[in-house]
Amino acid sequence: MKTYIVGNWKMNQTLESIQEFFVQFSKIKMEISHDVWIAPQSIHFPILKELAFTTGNIQIGVQNCSDKEQGAYTGEISPLSLKDMGAHFVIVGHSERRQIFAETNALLHQKCQAVLKNDMNVIFCIGETQEEKTLNLTTKIIKEQIEVGLFSSPMLTEANIGQLLIAYEPVWAIGTGLVATPSDIASVHEHIRQILSEALPESLKQWAWEIPLLYGGSVKPDNIAEILGTPNVNGVLVGGASLKAQDFKALGLARPYA
Ligand code: PGA
Repeated sequence: MKTYIVGNWKMNQTLESIQEFFVQFSKIKMEISHDVWIAPQSIHFPILKELAFTTGNIQIGVQNCSDKEQGAYTGEISPLSLKDMGAHFVIVGHSERRQIFAETNALLHQKCQAVLKNDMNVIFCIGETQEEKTLNLTTKIIKEQIEVGLFSSPMLTEANIGQLLIAYEPVWAIGTGLVATPSDIASVHEHIRQILSEALPESLKQWAWEIPLLYGGSVKPDNIAEILGTPNVNGVLVGGASLKAQDFKALGLARPYA
């Protein structure tokens, strides 16, 4: 299976820092053996798409989109237009969208549907808060997020399931410097595979072991090798450490440490 290094730039970067990133990235791209994806702010998407076309070896997506394709939805970003513009993927359900913008599992299901219908990859994010972890609710929360977000209507088919990735991002680990232990990550990821195998219809069941599972939450050059070496981890979703080309290089060069 491939290994994905996905950068979530959140609401960061300027035209200048983007140019600088790509100047540096073009020098190191040949050394990177993993699949590298970046999600900039949507307004920067066309610029990154152009720079990535010149540089090669990198796929560009976005951090969110509307569940509607077009119409009177001021300020929203249409999945139809994203497809038109050549977006490779959309991150759906990041915890900042869930918490700050009150996105529910039901809405996220609609968004996943809209992304898949428009033939883009979707990175569906799930994860528990600190409070939920303390109350031992991690498995319950994750089950609900997957069952409602991915299975509340029959959305996944032979034709689109290959475009789904799931990112487990414990909310307490995002931007905090706290990282889940490899054994915690391994056990949650195994649990995700079990939930998938129960929820998927017979014809798609083998995908329970094939859907790429990413870990996110304070991934850095000095912990990525251990995380990539964890069972059932097929890549990482990285915020802060993806903003600078040098850090990104270190992430891209990492070898799983067993
Ligand atoms: P972080 O963010 O790497 O800065 O913790 C990860 C994310 O929010 O996807």
